[in-house]
Amino acid sequence: MKLKSIPVFKPLIEKEEIAAAVESLEIGWLGMGRSVQEFEESVAQVCGLNADSDRGVVAVSTGHAALHLALLMIGVGDGDEVITPSFNNAADFQAIRACGAVPVFVDINESTLCIDPSKIEELISERTKCVIAMDYDVFVCEHDELALISERNNIPIVHDAAHSFGSFYKGVPIGNQHQYTMFSFDPVKTITCIDGGALIVCGDDKVKRLQAKRLIGMTQPASQMYSNARAWTYDIEELGFRYHMANLHAAIGISQIKKLDDIRTSRQNACRKYYEELKDIGIIRAPKGDFQEVNPFLYYVHVLDGSREDFRSFLLEKGIDTGVHWQAGHDFSYFSECKRGSLDITNKITKEIVSLPLHSKMSEEDINYITDVIKDYVKQQKS
Ligand SMILES: Cc1ncc(COP(=O)(O)O)c(C=O)c1O
Repeated sequence: MKLKSIPVFKPLIEKEEIAAAVESLEIGWLGMGRSVQEFEESVAQVCGLNADSDRGVVAVSTGHAALHLALLMIGVGDGDEVITPSFNNAADFQAIRACGAVPVFVDINESTLCIDPSKIEELISERTKCVIAMDYDVFVCEHDELALISERNNIPIVHDAAHSFGSFYKGVPIGNQHQYTMFSFDPVKTITCIDGGALIVCGDDKVKRLQAKRLIGMTQPASQMYSNARAWTYDIEELGFRYHMANLHAAIGISQIKKLDDIRTSRQNACRKYYEELKDIGIIRAPKGDFQEVNPFLYYVHVLDGSREDFRSFLLEKGIDTGVHWQAGHDFSYFSECKRGSLDITNKITKEIVSLPLHSKMSEEDINYITDVIKDYVKQQKS
């Protein structure tokens, strides 16, 4: 029998994405143009931002670029502090450092692995400029609590929604909870542009500033670029970066977003199946939920008996790849000196968690195979 080979991530690239890419290349306007505007409109639609909304979407080259720009918009600079979970993506820590600021590490909630709101305020100092809160895998943060903390302390929240594009919080689409929301559309995300990102901000003035900042500061009107044309004269009023999105990436993203409902439903079903099969099997703890409100990015389990690497090797021998998202920030040498609160949950769970394969339109046969192999591992550990 041929051994299965199941990757952790598998992009859903079908004939529509390939046709969109070919068309984009044939049009021949390779930089930022009409498709980027259409992509921004598609993102706004997913987030429920209608014409009356004061929120606007600005597409950029990566999620990291979106985070960097959000922090600059807030005015994060040399010697400032940004509170964020140590259990977060390195892109967030580096975006903070890129502004000359330092991350201050806060712990997470054990049941969702998202930021623990009750641990934030004790870390606020006169240097704190903002909090970055990240939705993780199949969970979203306690956004109402975060909004209260933001209001009480007059500190904005940057919502890292790299994992939750197309998800909801209490029935409201993600993108509406805080003053800054970023998305990533990198190769492994539920919706990919191959590489891409977006930032949602409040107010036309901020949108306009960001449109210049993503184009090395050039103030030429986005509307001109959106007609696949460029201006030859413009001003530069402030610091900017080459962070714009290109038409080719936007065109792929547009065809992905058209499939969002199917992508979300298939991933929710896969998570439900994982949970049903893996709950109550001893040393494995599977995150619980009905997954009704989320567009799940990853499904992970905790391996509770300290045998995570054996577990991963056992699965790999059976053709199942797994991942570890992530190592803790304070364990990286570059961030090891950063200020922090108690990180007991982070230190515990970063030794336990394993990401299982999760794909859009994943077959039930593959999930059955994976959960059977996991059950065999548990049996072996018991004997
Ligand atoms: C939580 C989180 N934030 C930010 C990023 C950075 O996004 P990008 O890879 O598009 O730069 C990622 C990417 O994996 C992520 O998972």
